[in-house]
Amino acid sequence: MDCRLFALVCLAAAAYGADKGLPSYVKVCDRKNSDIVSCLKESFGIVFSHGDKGIPEMHIRPFNPILLDKLSILEGNSGSVNLDAQLTDVKLYGIKDSTLESIDIDFESGAYNCEIFTPAVYLEANFGAKGKILLLEFNGNGIFRGNMTGVRTKVKYTFESYEKKGKEHWKLANSNFDCIIDNFAINLEELFADNKDLSEAVQAALDENIQIELQPVIVNTIETVVNDIVTHVFDKFPLDVLHPK
Ligand SMILES: *[C@@H]1O[C@H](CO)[C@@H](O)[C@H](O)[C@H]1NC(C)=O
Repeated sequence: MDCRLFALVCLAAAAYGADKGLPSYVKVCDRKNSDIVSCLKESFGIVFSHGDKGIPEMHIRPFNPILLDKLSILEGNSGSVNLDAQLTDVKLYGIKDSTLESIDIDFESGAYNCEIFTPAVYLEANFGAKGKILLLEFNGNGIFRGNMTGVRTKVKYTFESYEKKGKEHWKLANSNFDCIIDNFAINLEELFADNKDLSEAVQAALDENIQIELQPVIVNTIETVVNDIVTHVFDKFPLDVLHPK
């Protein structure tokens, strides 16, 4: 399963260094550091702890929460259920509590692989649904809450090297995400408050499919955001600044 959302975590591991352009609290990991993995894990933790405010110097915007305008969950027509649902004003919390479990960077080839563990990603949004269930037409709104727990993400990036103003930079050439989620619990509130049966029927219809429908949509939306940030960081800082030789 794709899980580009959590690549934000990997991006942080890529984003450290010491130069006048970088904040002093960001830990630098030299390429020749004999214990570079420990260094990167620590650096990763520092960058991610800044999720609430982001790191403007590195073009990392706040990511706790991550904000999304709109996600569609189209259930379409299936048997007795005809449901068209969407989430708006989506907020995702929890990426900042991620830890880097392993990392492997090849500075020659540009291969960049890491594994991240996120204890919980919490999603809050306005929910709107219309359609037909149990022969009842409905059109309602409510609050949607989702909690993905035990999220393990494998990220594979390939970077291409190029020269800008006489310095080596990295450019994102390819990305691949593989994500396993232990549990995804959802909760709908205030939906058809005056009709409990309908509320339960809609929730039951969603429960079956929402994880399958929602996850790829979330991760695809975030992929764009994340890859944009990665591109900016490596465009702004030469590789020698991010990873001194
Ligand atoms: C999400 O689930 C985890 C694990 O059960 C829990 O610790 C956390 O408080 C939950 N978050 C929210 C906002 O419900």
